[in-house]
Amino acid sequence: MSFPKDFLWGGATAANQYEGGYNLGKRGLSTLDAITAGSFKQPRMVTCKTKDGKILSVNKEDSLPEGAVGYIDPDLYYPSHTATDFYHHYKEDISLFAQMGFKCFRLSVSWSRICPKGMYDINEEGLKFYDDVFDELLKYGIEPVVTINHFDTPMYLADHLDGWSDRKVIDYYLFFCQTIFERYKNKVKYWMTFNEINILRSWTQIGIHDNSPCRRYQALHHILVASAKAVQLGHQICSDFKIGMMCCYIPAYPMTCKPEDVYEAIKENRKREFFMDVQCKGYYPSYQIKEFERMGFSIVMDDEDENILKEGTVDYIGFSYYMSTVATIDPNAQKAEGNQITAYKNPYLETSEWGWAIDPMGLRISLCKLYERYHLPLFVVENGLGAIDVLEKDYSIHDVYRMDYLKKHIQAMKDAIEIDGVDLMGYTPWGCIDVVSAGTGEMKKRYGFIYVDMDDQGHGTLKRFKKDSFYWYKNVIETNGEVL
Ligand code: BG6
Repeated sequence: MSFPKDFLWGGATAANQYEGGYNLGKRGLSTLDAITAGSFKQPRMVTCKTKDGKILSVNKEDSLPEGAVGYIDPDLYYPSHTATDFYHHYKEDISLFAQMGFKCFRLSVSWSRICPKGMYDINEEGLKFYDDVFDELLKYGIEPVVTINHFDTPMYLADHLDGWSDRKVIDYYLFFCQTIFERYKNKVKYWMTFNEINILRSWTQIGIHDNSPCRRYQALHHILVASAKAVQLGHQICSDFKIGMMCCYIPAYPMTCKPEDVYEAIKENRKREFFMDVQCKGYYPSYQIKEFERMGFSIVMDDEDENILKEGTVDYIGFSYYMSTVATIDPNAQKAEGNQITAYKNPYLETSEWGWAIDPMGLRISLCKLYERYHLPLFVVENGLGAIDVLEKDYSIHDVYRMDYLKKHIQAMKDAIEIDGVDLMGYTPWGCIDVVSAGTGEMKKRYGFIYVDMDDQGHGTLKRFKKDSFYWYKNVIETNGEVL
């Protein structure tokens, strides 16, 4: 048997894309509540109000005018507000996960549901909601895997403190961590401090107005310190906790064996490895310090930071894997388009309808590389194919393409365990039930085993339907990955 007996098969979601109930249960607003839906070609926009009262729409990747605050326009559609409504459907959804035989379920807790301003304020109703969710999961023997922060910053912190650029946010985040660690210590064992730490940027995700590299990396330093402190705090509160990091891992291959292309790939890979190096080894790698020097800035650090990073290394590496990319110094190489990265096209790989290169072997390569580099248990906490599904008249959905994608990636994990000796803890494919796309805000970019009746404008009954992949994945779990 290749997959260990206690392998954590499950699925993954995030509050801002799944939970909804954005103004219910005394929840405070989060930055992501002010971003609209976009599409493959049209970016999602932040709506904000400037200091002199003008209402603006700004590309979610861009900087916001200084002093601008998040603004909800009653005439616009904001996908996070209802999302696919886990808030009202959690019992039904968890029972469907249980039918598939999930061993674990990855979800994130909404910071502004628990601390509406993100400061030292506690909302008991918010805590109670997650108590109910965790109890429901445990009723079926499903282990919760909790991402403490998945792309959302309480809007109050973004508007009043410029988000993570202010060091004080470290303490607010730790207060939030302490609150949930203490409250849920008998219900939750697996945690991750920040989702896809390596791609965090801008007002929408980390609350910073000025998205220049200097401000972004300063904010990210605070996030790295907060993560390390959270790991230490969690271990003090409960020695059984397993607290991991989470990286968006997109391995870069050199386009050719030309040494300059190989070096270009090394540079591209460092963009993810920098964060893993800090969180797994406990210090800033020399290549990144040199990179900051070249960029003309240095990170402002407190004397204690070096030690905090050293003492707060993680227990495991969680990572998302959807695709690989290509690096080259050739300016004429053919570009590839995708939501998360725009890089060069790999002529050997097919792409998804959203331009993401489909590369199961890249998952095996990543598993080998990360295990050899860090010697820590690995957890594939996101993987999947965003595709357009057709709901047939009889409510069936024949998602053969999804099964094919997942099957090949599971085979790659199996090979990495069996042949390469990688220590892999679990697998939680993304959007195990349809959720709103983070990149585009669309509903039609679906990943789930369970279809949710909702369209790109937020219309639909929110009814749940089992796709063909639902039954297929159930069998994969039942046979512990032996029958694909
Ligand atoms: C990861 C995120 O980047 O990829 C998820 O952690 C996201 O939040 C997922 O949904 C897939 O991306 P998208 O843009 O297709 O939703």
